[in-house]
Amino acid sequence: MCGITAYCGQNKALPFLMQGLSKLEYRGYDSAGVTTLEDHHLLTVKCKGRLTNLEEKLLSYKIEGTIGIGHTRWATHGIPSHLNSHPHNNKDETIALVHNGIIENYRELKEELLKEGYTFQSETDSEVVVQLLDHYYQGDLFKATLKVLQKIEGSYALCILSSLEPDKIIVAKKDSPLIIGKAQDAYVATSDIPALLEYTKDVYFLDDYEMAILQKDHIQFYTHEGVPIKKELTTIPYDLEAAKKDGYDTFMLKEIYEQPHVIQETMRGRINHDHISLDELKDIDFQQFHKVYFVACGTAYHASLCGAHVLEKLTRLPVISMVASEFRYNDPLIDENTLAIFVSQSGETADTLAALRLAKKYHATTIAIANVLGSTISRDADYVLYTCAGPEIAVASTKAYTTQLILLILLAYYIAQRLNKNVDLQLIHQLSHIPQYVEDILKDHTLFKEYAKLLENLHDAYFIGRGLDYASVLEGALKLKEISYVHADAYVAGELKHGPIALIENGSVVIAVALQPHIAAKTLSNIQETIARGAKVILLTTHNQEVKNIENTYYLPDIAPVLQSILVAIPLQLIAYYTACLKKCDVDKPRNLAKSVTVE
Ligand code: F6R
Repeated sequence: MCGITAYCGQNKALPFLMQGLSKLEYRGYDSAGVTTLEDHHLLTVKCKGRLTNLEEKLLSYKIEGTIGIGHTRWATHGIPSHLNSHPHNNKDETIALVHNGIIENYRELKEELLKEGYTFQSETDSEVVVQLLDHYYQGDLFKATLKVLQKIEGSYALCILSSLEPDKIIVAKKDSPLIIGKAQDAYVATSDIPALLEYTKDVYFLDDYEMAILQKDHIQFYTHEGVPIKKELTTIPYDLEAAKKDGYDTFMLKEIYEQPHVIQETMRGRINHDHISLDELKDIDFQQFHKVYFVACGTAYHASLCGAHVLEKLTRLPVISMVASEFRYNDPLIDENTLAIFVSQSGETADTLAALRLAKKYHATTIAIANVLGSTISRDADYVLYTCAGPEIAVASTKAYTTQLILLILLAYYIAQRLNKNVDLQLIHQLSHIPQYVEDILKDHTLFKEYAKLLENLHDAYFIGRGLDYASVLEGALKLKEISYVHADAYVAGELKHGPIALIENGSVVIAVALQPHIAAKTLSNIQETIARGAKVILLTTHNQEVKNIENTYYLPDIAPVLQSILVAIPLQLIAYYTACLKKCDVDKPRNLAKSVTVE
């Protein structure tokens, strides 16, 4: 989730580039850089760290150029460093580019270029693109770009600048956002609307496989085959504050709706036909492990429960999930044959960090699943895998959770494959459909709003499920209580009769998840027990189940049961969300909670 800015106009480029980067800093912030055209040559200034570091560095340069590109980075390939920062240049420093996205086939392309004698400065996938441009450049930057676009696979928003053709910036897009603005004095491009709103509200939304040539007073759009096309200018109706939320009322809703995209990004480059590839873990000998721990807090713990369930089923290794605050004080059985996996969105949670340090002390091999690059947990673990959820601003975790689920399922399948276990290839194939299913479920939002009306005036709600569905209801209950302050408890459905059913009375609401085929029928009969005692039920299930007399039933698509935990998260998030909205709660900032819990 990097941020990109570009300016081609009549005034100095730097002010636009920097104000845009500061608005985009929420997309990533481990390094930043700009390139401008100064007296017929490209000047690139970049550095590691926050944008303020770049601002300080820029004070020692005189930057007058009226054309330039800028970038803030959220690293995916290569550690945050000066050399890995964007813009990247070719060797002669005649071409510079910024890139947002992931070039999936960069290793193959890099191999080819190395054979041609090219050398690389950085560990990034993006540098391959600038070297390829150099390779294909024969006096026409546009033609060279078309050739490069035919070669690269993956996702990209690109802005390309060359001192050899100093009047233009070429931009291209596939699967990463890029918006072009028509300002009074320039054509500009950015990753997101807030970055250009101070300059203009008139924008072109570049679609996938489209590109454009920006000049100071002219713009032309093309397909990736170089065919000229026309695009409509749209006027943005909202102001800067609203734009940061992308038109959504809250960050939480925006983040819920980002899930199809960020799930796709988290899978990108990690599924290779029938194989899961997690190159970051290639040096681990998985045969050495006698047991596995999953350790996390809150929502990340619920995702871990799912990961642990899948891993144990596939590998038959003993797998234990623990809340970090328990793990660190419970004298866990750790030795050098233990694999310990720590899941944390922020990568800074104090209990999870302390648990990680404990596991390392007793020589376990440690893997972090983190979202924030360069965070303490990601740096301290022996190995790290990143979810690509982008910054999560709402306190209640949504997109981090579903991307953790995806990555933990990939990890379980990866470990199983490394241990030569038989794995369900159908599931691997179904993974690619998840973003579309999530998209479809989001379209049913009005239904979830109706369900929320049942909860609006209640003090308590009950969530039930079995097996993997139990992990899902734990998370559903957590979402409801933290943002709407309706007290919610999640129970293993089979446990109701051992106590909690005493609470059920006329008007109680039970939210039941029955998606695991081998036990769904059991949950359905537990539901009937609550209906008999006056409960109203919201049921999330599939058409494969025989459902009787349950008015509020939502049917999820019939896919591999393991993957249902990702899909069912969406209705549960939206039910909690709309309940909180009906109660007029501050959804993004629930009382007493902080986004990152850095104290014990
Ligand atoms: C709930 C929520 C928290 C976090 C927990 C761990 O919506 O966000 O329960 O999941 O505090 O945080 P991380 O994942 O940053 O370690």
